[in-house]
Amino acid sequence: MLIDTHCHLQDPDLLPDIEGVLRRAQEAGVEKMVCVGYDLPSSRAAVQLAQRYKPVYAAIGIHPHDAKTYSPAVEKELRQLAANPKVVAIGEIGLDYYRDLSPRDLQKDVFIQQIHLAQSLKKPIVIHDRDAHEDTLKILREEKGGQYGGVMHCFSGHLPMALELVKMNFYISFAGPLTFKNNKKGQEAAANIPMDRLLVETDSPYLSPEPKRGKTNEPAFVRYTAQKLADLRGKTLEEVAYLTNLNAHKIFRLK
Ligand code: NI
Repeated sequence: MLIDTHCHLQDPDLLPDIEGVLRRAQEAGVEKMVCVGYDLPSSRAAVQLAQRYKPVYAAIGIHPHDAKTYSPAVEKELRQLAANPKVVAIGEIGLDYYRDLSPRDLQKDVFIQQIHLAQSLKKPIVIHDRDAHEDTLKILREEKGGQYGGVMHCFSGHLPMALELVKMNFYISFAGPLTFKNNKKGQEAAANIPMDRLLVETDSPYLSPEPKRGKTNEPAFVRYTAQKLADLRGKTLEEVAYLTNLNAHKIFRLK
């Protein structure tokens, strides 16, 4: 049974057909999924979905795009939401220097504040890093971001970065782009990262894997990424499902 460690079921592309999305996930062998927030409303929605549907767990946090909305009141509400037992992580948090929707200094500051929030709650973190590898690693090192573990979501770096993250107590999660023909860098990393540190995700509704590219992504499609990982590792889909499932249970302390 697979676990989609990162999806956005609260997104308007998935939410109207949530029952269908969950049914198709189950039919595809997806046992559990982590619904990830990116601002306050989406974090609240993730917790609501987790409360309502057994296979759904929640991560809550403010994405770097929305760093400018972070405030003591927002942090207070995140803290209240985190009291729900189905909230398994703080995220997605991090840095995005590709779109730069919030000033970089503010992104860094809010990333650090949320690392501290996660530490005070003894929860792992889910990291978004786009075109900000160096600063992300620097902050994680300086703030001991891996104290309670974490996940580098939709990993887009190269193998040495992955190995450094593993040393800092992080898991490396691969999404649909792993299946893209031209993604040699990602495939090389996925083939060589210690197996006990690998996770799979969809980041749905975005980033559909081959052969669903161009369609709305959903948790059921995580099997294509898992199959690609299996091919790269010389393993069967069942073996990869078993191992990544175990890893997801460990990092998110799932029951
Ligand atoms: Ni995401």
